[in-house]
Amino acid sequence: MVEWTEQERTIITSIFSSLDYEDIGPKALSRCLIVYPWTQRYFGAFGNLYNAEAIKTNPNIAAHGVKVLHGLDRAVKNMDNIKATYAELSVLHSEKLHVDPDNFKLLSDCLTIVIAAKMGSGFTPEIQATWQKFLAVVVSALGRQYH
Ligand code: HEM
Repeated sequence: MVEWTEQERTIITSIFSSLDYEDIGPKALSRCLIVYPWTQRYFGAFGNLYNAEAIKTNPNIAAHGVKVLHGLDRAVKNMDNIKATYAELSVLHSEKLHVDPDNFKLLSDCLTIVIAAKMGSGFTPEIQATWQKFLAVVVSALGRQYH
């Protein structure tokens, strides 16, 4: 089981409490689709993804970006049980959506970049270290049901 210090818990909770989901979620997902265009294949039903501008202004992508962040705050609320928290989402992404689990890392890296840009110098190496640990645990949990 992953152990979290009080300081790590405080860092993760405080990042999420100041997070503007409506801003960060859409930016992170659209960045992922633009930087790693092969990730677009899963969003064929979301309408126009013809170019970067279309992706950035696509309301379905924006809404889904917000949904992904709400998916992440489940981990914040269950930091001692992240694996079980994502069992169902892992099954959904593997068996139903057939999302290649490598993509979880790509999206989480885009999220890190967007958050870093937003927090600026507040995103210190110490905070990033905790943030990366958190995302690594989430990515691993989401990849759990793949076989
Ligand atoms: C659906 C979370 C990564 C593709 C979802 C849903 C959540 C979620 C909460 C909605 C599930 C539901 O409706 O019950 C996450 C989290 C991720 C992640 C926390 C990693 C940080 C990815 C990646 C891809 C992806 C990397 C593809 C590149 C999809 C698709 C759906 C979905 C296609 C269904 C969308 C729809 O048809 O409405 N995800 N996801 N997800 N996810 Fe993910």
